[in-house]
Amino acid sequence: MELGCGTAYVSAWLARRDGRPVGIDNSAAQLATASGFQDEFDLRFPLVHGDAERLPFDDESFDFAISEYGAAIWCDPNRWLPEAARVLRPGGRLVFLGNSVLMMLCVADDDVTPAGDRLLRPQFGMHRFEWPDDPGVEFHISHGERIRLLRSCGFEIEDLVELQPPDETVENRFPFVNLDWAQRWPAEEAWTVRKKG
Ligand SMILES: C[S@@+](CC[C@H](N)C(=O)[O-])C[C@H]1O[C@@H](n2cnc3c(N)ncnc32)[C@H](O)[C@@H]1O
Repeated sequence: MELGCGTAYVSAWLARRDGRPVGIDNSAAQLATASGFQDEFDLRFPLVHGDAERLPFDDESFDFAISEYGAAIWCDPNRWLPEAARVLRPGGRLVFLGNSVLMMLCVADDDVTPAGDRLLRPQFGMHRFEWPDDPGVEFHISHGERIRLLRSCGFEIEDLVELQPPDETVENRFPFVNLDWAQRWPAEEAWTVRKKG
């Protein structure tokens, strides 16, 4: 199950490796794009129009869940993590990737100035993020809050990978963080957790 699948390229990887993914997204436009890619690359798996905070799936019906900048940052963790736990079978894994906590504390408000070496906002109380002139709402919580929430949902934490671009990286795709920053501090973090059972 890919939560906030967008183009569903992660699900496509899983399908090519003989997985049986299901992508869910609350944007019909994103799902239309994903469907177009299914035609283009001759891959078929279900694409569901729905909300990752209220999953339209039965309890314990999936072995694996993943979110790459989908529910991971666009849904309230107090809602989507309990839902992910509900639909995973005991022993099932959840993997999710998003911006690092540190970057969210250092990134400027304007989406143009890259993150600097100063903390621009408090960590205590961090949760809902909104930006000037941007209708999007993101959610980011501290590591302590995340660990307590994951445990309260019945997950055990297997790993937290703080991503560092390799030396040979040349491409810089986003204005809000530059390569020098990302090689010194983690700009992204990936969690792997397993539902106890
Ligand atoms: C930045 S995209 C990333 C998705 C995917 N990894 C990709 O690269 O296309 C985030 C996706 O999360 C979806 N999304 C946001 N809120 C959602 C929600 N409550 N339930 C399901 N999907 C949601 C958006 O519609 C969008 O397609």
